[in-house]
Amino acid sequence: MNEAAAVDQYGVVGHPVAHSWSPFIHGMFAKSTAQNVAYRLFDVPPEHFRRDILQLFADGIRGLNVTLPHKQAAAELVNDLTPRAARAQAVNTIAFFEDTALLGDNTDGAGLTADLERNLNLELADLRVLVLGAGGAVRGVLGPLLERELGQLTIANRTADKALRLAAEFADMGRVSGCGFGELSGPAYDLVINATSAGLHGEMPLLPAGIVGATTQCYDMSYGRGDTPFTRWAKSHNAARASKGWGMLVEQAAESFLLWRGIRPNTRAVLDALAEHA
Ligand code: ATR
Repeated sequence: MNEAAAVDQYGVVGHPVAHSWSPFIHGMFAKSTAQNVAYRLFDVPPEHFRRDILQLFADGIRGLNVTLPHKQAAAELVNDLTPRAARAQAVNTIAFFEDTALLGDNTDGAGLTADLERNLNLELADLRVLVLGAGGAVRGVLGPLLERELGQLTIANRTADKALRLAAEFADMGRVSGCGFGELSGPAYDLVINATSAGLHGEMPLLPAGIVGATTQCYDMSYGRGDTPFTRWAKSHNAARASKGWGMLVEQAAESFLLWRGIRPNTRAVLDALAEHA
């Protein structure tokens, strides 16, 4: 066997995906855990998702991360789902195992809660939490958030109907309701999480000011250099803190690495390295 063939292949599939930091993150994980893996980007449009993903696994790839806009399509493609991916009906990690073939998992919620609790030192129990958005990204985080025994969880979305349906889907797990942005009102929430993709287009959902106050923690699941439209908005409303999703990105990647390799890498060095780009 030549040396290249001994390297286990992984990657991330999305559209677009060129901006992804996942190869950098998994490269650092591989080095720190001495795992012989390679990690690449695969830009696949929705119409070719099924064909191209099956081809990648037929060619011997061991695992894939799945990002926008494929998370729900990935849940339909795999042979089996972990309980948290079944709950979410969205998949951000696919692993090839001989016994189950393609296993779909969702590490987004574990990544978010790890960042909030371990890196930002938030105690989630009893908090009043507002989640903005009702797409694939939100599906993954609702279960893990509701497991924390929140005081209340509100899902607000531009298309109110989607928020209402999502709230109904998770109603068995705790106090969760859905609404449109215009129906939101004070008192200020303890934690507001932006999970819309509005910021990707440089936009900010139109939100009533009363939902954020001096004790509100604001968290944007997207990330980038400098402020996002949401963190800028949060700061202009004097929120207690406005964080971006770099930590969630690293922690969800660590959970994927654990599924693939059986080792959860230490995330500190990667968080520090990425802080230079934040
Ligand atoms: P993702 O996987 O990132 O969740 P998605 O499933 O396409 O992607 O969902 C995108 C989310 O961002 C949706 O909640 C969408 O609202 P709609 O359901 O009304 O489409 C929200 N979104 C996108 N652009 C937005 C904007 N400019 N303002 C407010 N919400 C926006």
